[in-house]
Amino acid sequence: MTTRTILVTSALPYANGSIHLGHLVEYIQTDIWVRFQKMQGHTVHYVCADDTHGTPIMLRAEKEGITPEALIARVHTEHLRDFTGFHITFDQYYSTHSDETRYYAEDIYLKLKAAGLIAVRAIEQLYDPVKNLFLPDRFVKGECPKCGAADQYGDSCEACGAAYAPTDLKNPYSAVSGATPIRKASEHFFFKLSDARCADFLRRWTREGNHLQAEAANKMAEWLGEAGENKLSDWDISRDAPYFGFEIPGETGKYFYVWLDAPIGYMGSFRKLCAQKGIDFDAYWNKDSAAELYHFIGKDILYFHALFWPAMLENAGYRTPTQIFAHGFLTVNGEKMSKSRGTFITAESYLEQGLNPEWLRYYYAAKLNGSMEDIDLNLDDFVARVNSDLVGKYINIASRCAGFISKRFGGKLVEGEDYRLLQQMVDEHFSGWQPGVIEAAYEARDFSAAVRHIMRRADEVNELIHALAPWEIAKDESRLRELHRACSLGIQMFYLLSCYLKPILPHTARQIEDFLGAGELAWQ
Ligand code: 2FM
Ligand code: ZN
Repeated sequence: MTTRTILVTSALPYANGSIHLGHLVEYIQTDIWVRFQKMQGHTVHYVCADDTHGTPIMLRAEKEGITPEALIARVHTEHLRDFTGFHITFDQYYSTHSDETRYYAEDIYLKLKAAGLIAVRAIEQLYDPVKNLFLPDRFVKGECPKCGAADQYGDSCEACGAAYAPTDLKNPYSAVSGATPIRKASEHFFFKLSDARCADFLRRWTREGNHLQAEAANKMAEWLGEAGENKLSDWDISRDAPYFGFEIPGETGKYFYVWLDAPIGYMGSFRKLCAQKGIDFDAYWNKDSAAELYHFIGKDILYFHALFWPAMLENAGYRTPTQIFAHGFLTVNGEKMSKSRGTFITAESYLEQGLNPEWLRYYYAAKLNGSMEDIDLNLDDFVARVNSDLVGKYINIASRCAGFISKRFGGKLVEGEDYRLLQQMVDEHFSGWQPGVIEAAYEARDFSAAVRHIMRRADEVNELIHALAPWEIAKDESRLRELHRACSLGIQMFYLLSCYLKPILPHTARQIEDFLGAGELAWQ
């Protein structure tokens, strides 16, 4: 097998909110995939960071009476604590507010500018005359221009679903100060996505090379339109002071919009890892790089990752992603997570209840199939599934056999001729196990198929143990060797199933390694 060189990212969570069960779908999905790839012996780096810039973070810090730097430092600790609690193991968890990210943000911007892909023009926006601040859409409220509902956000109406511009709101007010916003013009910087170089490249990139899932590619085709048609508009990449972010080089009071430096944070985080581990950064990001680059994201941010990001990289002379893996949203009991229904569950509160993080990892794995479909966490099903699969099928194998091995056989499995007989029994009973199917399912992020194969195998092992009935043989002193073989077989198969489950249940796998004393559970 050839060894692959792989860089993997999960989307960067904003530094002003807690990690919740919705976020965890993605981090658990990525972590399982990364662990699987590492078990295959590939060179894999998994990086992430906090997404730290923007007006909401600036205002949140102000509200708490602290600096944005203090806020993002605190949240970084909280996020890392939550991820660690769910056994999500990044090789690097950094921050976009870093020298490395600043370096690549400036570098990419200056290269796009040199290529003639940055335009400057004045636009008019709503401005808070009390706070002296341009207001992002979500910070303007007012009456819906369509249905008249009060207190609606500047981008869409929660009552009638209408989408509009903040300037369309009736009786608008600033959600920050309450003041009536005024219209004010200022110069903004745009990435010229409408330039034929971007549009042509994106039309090719989104269709060819298997960069996107089929559903995502179709979405992109809609957004891009046909050749000759120009549906892409230039992307506004600047914000005016006051703003928490990176100032645009050569300009005063102009900052990169948070979404410009967010994906560049993938590079920043990896750069940091490279410095720590002596990895060659360019070998991963040069145009002709042979390394694979995968971004795991939610389907809501496909636009940024499948259009803006590859267009930025391509035109700044870097490699583009190998594939973008988008997943769906999480619902709880069939509905959007909701604070009032008690289904808005943070990572911290889940763990504080004493719930085992691996139950959630297993449940998500059993539901994730590599598509963009939403997944549902049904709380009754969650309990039933964990009990029936993990306890009833998997752990049960060990608990039916291990006691005899330790009490009657000094904690040792059969050897020699008896081991040969055991092996014969395995071949006879499990010859229907198709090789490679579990690996293929993991590789395709179809964890639900992997789990199905593994649990079907667990069922077959349980059936065999049931037929052998060690608890019956144990009553007859003359059948000791038979008992030893049957229980050894159970433990041997438990060992195998534990290897298969290790990417999903890394903590249990470690406990089993200690328990069995047979070294590291390795894929081979
Ligand atoms: O949607 C979000 O939560 C963003 N913070 C994701 C950024 S992903 C990447 F581009 F940085
Ligand atoms: Zn409305």
